[in-house]
Amino acid sequence: MNKDQLARIAQAMVAPGKGILAADESSATIKKRFEAIGVESTPETRRDYRELLFRASGAMQRHISGVILYDETIRQLAADGTPLVKLIEQTGAIPGIKVDTGAKPLPGFPGETITEGLDGLGARLKEYYSLGARFAKWRAVIDIGDAIPTRAAIDANAQALARYAAHCQAADIVPIVEPEVLMDGGHALQRCYEVSEAVLRAVFAELHAMRVLLEGIVLKPNMVVPGMKAPKQATPDEVAAASVRLFKNCVPVAVPGIAFLSGGQSDVTATANLDAIARSGPLPWAVTFSYGRALQAAPQKAWSGKPGNVGAAQAAFSHRARMNGLAALGEWSETLEKAAA
Ligand code: 13P
Repeated sequence: MNKDQLARIAQAMVAPGKGILAADESSATIKKRFEAIGVESTPETRRDYRELLFRASGAMQRHISGVILYDETIRQLAADGTPLVKLIEQTGAIPGIKVDTGAKPLPGFPGETITEGLDGLGARLKEYYSLGARFAKWRAVIDIGDAIPTRAAIDANAQALARYAAHCQAADIVPIVEPEVLMDGGHALQRCYEVSEAVLRAVFAELHAMRVLLEGIVLKPNMVVPGMKAPKQATPDEVAAASVRLFKNCVPVAVPGIAFLSGGQSDVTATANLDAIARSGPLPWAVTFSYGRALQAAPQKAWSGKPGNVGAAQAAFSHRARMNGLAALGEWSETLEKAAA
């Protein structure tokens, strides 16, 4: 394990004003996203779409520290034959790879899942390193319902995350540790706080047990938010106050950075909430974004599969990357958002 390299990469992933582009949708997920814009999902359309993002070089250079790829994408070539990984590296961003194989039903626990992908992980990480990946991602999924999550599901997922993280570091790959508490239900913000707290405590206990180097990870959590169907939604200041309190209580200062997922928040809400969190400083870790939907919904819509729309799609992506880069510094405002729109 090269501890210095791990720490250096982890810090670069959360560099000031930069965040992570989560472009690691599985083939099933990207198919759903493409259906929404009337595009057939083929290896070529997936390549064309992702290539246009990576070729938005100004935004990539200024605001994107790393890109999470899916297995297909890390092996793909751009239309002119350049590996997509090269395009990313040329912008100064770091290529990363999703290595879990998905959240599967947890036997005996209706409504709960366990994320799979540990078998053979060591060998897969070696290959991904040779393909250029310097960080990886594993997403554990915790849903909130009447009788869930259970202790058993939290512990099983926390242990899998920690075993994944240890494998990554043995391969000199920085693990993004992503325990996502979903915002699908009608629960209040306080319930999200309590569940997220139980999850983070379990995750850090397991990371410690598995001897994971905290300086060489990036945490990718949900923000503390009410469920999407909750009657009372929260303001950015309320989200920030609860989130900062939670992370100060649960995340050791050795962790270099927290890169939030967007989890179904609208583009601008995800930006406004990150901005409010960054303004609550000084904080002991860097805070930034690792957004999938909140960075890509706008460019996907603008592109809609038409070559003539590539410029508009790149402009839409660049705008969201810039707004989130500002938010990570606590320098975003609605005025800036509107001025650029
Ligand atoms: P969202 O920002 O769309 O939640 O995606 C981030 C991600 O990588 C989920 O695993």
